[in-house]
Amino acid sequence: MATGLTADEILALRDRHLGRSLSVSYRHPLHIVRGERQFLYDADGRAYLDCVNNVCHVGHGHPRVVEAACRQMSELNTNTRYLHENIVEYARRLSGLFPDPLEVCYFVCSGSEANELALRLARTATGRHDVVVLDEAYHGNTGGMVDLSPYKFAGPGGAGRPEHVHVAPVPDPLRGPYRYGDPSAGQRYALAVADELRAAESRGRPAAAFFAESVPGCAGQIVPPDGFLPSAFEAARSAGALSVADEVQVGFGRVGTHWWGFEAQGAIADIVTLGKPIGNGHPMGAVVTTRAIAEAFENGMEYFNTFGGNPVSCAVGLAVLDVIEEEELMENAHSVGEVLLAGLRELSRIYPIIGDVRGLGLFIGVELVLDPETLEPATEQAAAVVNTMRERGILLSTDGPYRNVIKIKPPLVFQAADADRVVSELGEVLAGSALGVS
Ligand SMILES: Cc1ncc(COP(=O)(O)O)c(C=O)c1O
Repeated sequence: MATGLTADEILALRDRHLGRSLSVSYRHPLHIVRGERQFLYDADGRAYLDCVNNVCHVGHGHPRVVEAACRQMSELNTNTRYLHENIVEYARRLSGLFPDPLEVCYFVCSGSEANELALRLARTATGRHDVVVLDEAYHGNTGGMVDLSPYKFAGPGGAGRPEHVHVAPVPDPLRGPYRYGDPSAGQRYALAVADELRAAESRGRPAAAFFAESVPGCAGQIVPPDGFLPSAFEAARSAGALSVADEVQVGFGRVGTHWWGFEAQGAIADIVTLGKPIGNGHPMGAVVTTRAIAEAFENGMEYFNTFGGNPVSCAVGLAVLDVIEEEELMENAHSVGEVLLAGLRELSRIYPIIGDVRGLGLFIGVELVLDPETLEPATEQAAAVVNTMRERGILLSTDGPYRNVIKIKPPLVFQAADADRVVSELGEVLAGSALGVS
């Protein structure tokens, strides 16, 4: 497939033929030509340790997944109006991974589509229209999902908060109103969600749903304080709204202790949306919900999705589940995540620029600040760290409203030795005077 183009030639062609609202990573963009396990390889054959890939979840090019896709692709790929074993076997396996009463699946092609369908389900089941979301949330690239994503509508080019959307504070225990050390922080953030639900109702706009990323990603890899999610979902229930857990980033064992981020926090959603890791790079998404909500959706209008749930996608989805289970990748996320968190916390004791280290399993954020008291964000330093680490062969990225949170979410085949390498290289980079951050 490689055409032999240089990086500069590819950049020029992108510039000419692709919409320019698409950016590239790193000061010196990478020309990646191959991936294997937790490594990506550039056109010169140099290996990079991939620490930001929650899509190729079971490892780049996993042979089991590739083989399942190729075999099914050469046999049959068609829509879901014919009977086929793959879709029912996959729905049976996938729904079996959810707590009761989540048991009905819909298959789509992306996380955005999953969230769009979740919104339709919630609106149809409640007869309401509005939505409460968390600040800095990202739920997808469609018009409807940009409307539900403060990360987009309140950011560059955004048109501001739409009338039907109500925003509760992100439960950030470092920067938010309720912080580390406050044992009631989780409850207080949940009360803020309840306040938004009540305020919406008092304006004559009761909410159909409370949408939340189970572990907020774009907000800066935020681990909500204990008790937040169950209480926020309970608040939604008492307000007559459905809770939607967006598991697009964190699902499928990434949090280490459970398959789903909401479960790890002791909460149960009414509707769960899945994407990214579900197909290890194959474009897939899914919605899992209760029988009652699915029945309310059966109002006569058919839900059909040309590609969603096709035999190839379901074969891929099944292979991904097999690999997660057989290679014990959730358990690996837990143990390697602990090694990484411990190493990063050790670094934070040496380098005051590390204002916070947080995470669940292999979903980790390292927040850089110029001053541990004022929490002034070290945005430029975070970008410099990420670019220097890239030169050292380690791929990281930044997120959060100030882009000062280094995000770490590698494929789940990440090893303890990889974690040690990240910690030791990051320590050297932070010690480097060139960054002016030591
Ligand atoms: C939390 C979350 N939800 C939804 C989406 C949208 O998924 P997709 O890009 O597959 O449409 C994303 C993508 O980044 C996401 O991070």
